[in-house]
Amino acid sequence: MVAVPAVSRGLEDVVALESRICFIDGVRGRLIYQGYDIRDLAAHSSFEEVAYLLWYGRLPTAPQLAELRGRLGALRALPPELVRQIDSMPVGSTPMDVLRTSVSALAMFEPSETGPGASSIGGAQRLTAVIPTILATFHRRRAGLPPLRERPDLSPAAYLLYALVDREPTELEARAMDVALILHADHELNASTFAARVTASTLSDLYSAVTSAIGTLKGPLHGGANERVMELLAAIGTPELAETVVKERLAKHERIMGFGHRVYKVEDPRATILREWSKKIGEAKGNLRYYELLRKVEEIVHREKGLYPNVDLYSGSVYSLLGISHDLFTPIFAASRVSGWTAHVLEEYQDLRLIRPTARYIGATDLAYLPLAQRTG
Ligand code: CMC
Repeated sequence: MVAVPAVSRGLEDVVALESRICFIDGVRGRLIYQGYDIRDLAAHSSFEEVAYLLWYGRLPTAPQLAELRGRLGALRALPPELVRQIDSMPVGSTPMDVLRTSVSALAMFEPSETGPGASSIGGAQRLTAVIPTILATFHRRRAGLPPLRERPDLSPAAYLLYALVDREPTELEARAMDVALILHADHELNASTFAARVTASTLSDLYSAVTSAIGTLKGPLHGGANERVMELLAAIGTPELAETVVKERLAKHERIMGFGHRVYKVEDPRATILREWSKKIGEAKGNLRYYELLRKVEEIVHREKGLYPNVDLYSGSVYSLLGISHDLFTPIFAASRVSGWTAHVLEEYQDLRLIRPTARYIGATDLAYLPLAQRTG
């Protein structure tokens, strides 16, 4: 008899491929991009440097970084056809739907072999540059803000804030966003990156792979968790009610968003850094309400379930304090993760093998086919 391999539901602990891009040490709580610890990158680098690192496998020199900055600034404008499409989307659409559809549409307006839409580092840079513009084009219309001005002088982090909040960010605000972008840039074979690699493994193009990834990131068990954390805080209201609300939810076997992780068995190092930033920005704004509530929720969830916070617990509090609408939190995750998605897609093209697992069939096999007229229901 042929041995039947065990099913690993959710592909848990399955090693699907080799990669040089990102390493998660779930036991020690470490996250490494191309050899560099996330703590060093968050303390000293910028999102552009990290994107360069993910794409090229090494940190840039000063001229290389300046060139990338210039290029990302110059690639931000949308084709007018796409602006018209975004302008015709219902204002009640979710920004994640707008982003998914716009990235998919963008591929049709760009030359696929030689232009910025090519499945190459040029395409990766184009997508990374353009996502904030797509989000801002939609958000500014629904919020009644004046049309977006091109600001190639701003860093990706400052541009994202300027475009979504409509004011020049302070240095501290821009740095908070920069750190958030660095922390979200890659995370090994998370669900959206895996989706991107599966798409790329069929030799499909970069834009299709990123479209798959955006649709996958949207779910509340993945990128959508940060929005739900803020809903929880709104439901709790004051720290005194935290115990009751959280325990009620746990008693109903509800998941508390922002906690738990498939790979980390200890605290997610990104949560540690974002907790510090939540406090820092809270102090600068004279509003520590979110920080204090989250600390309380953390204590309860750890006591009751032994769960640690993940990246999504504190990110929403930082974005809220920066003046960003809740439904833009997950799209901001995408604005950063696109650097990692595209790095993985390019790596997939270098070492391509069609990703195609199998399922254990548990249905029937020998049913007799009945003609339509004889079927009774
Ligand atoms: N709240 C309450 N219980 C939880 C949670 C949570 N957040 N996370 C896990 N558990 C419980 C779960 O109910 C299960 O308990 P039991 O064994 O009694 O049924 C046990 O812990 C194991 O859970 P699991 O679903 O088998 O674990 P997983 O590895 O499949 O889940 C996860 C990982 C992230 C989907 C899960 O922890 C979760 O749903 N967290 C909340 C959503 C969230 O914060 N997502 C963001 C993840 S980090 C950012 C990213 O990569 O996108």
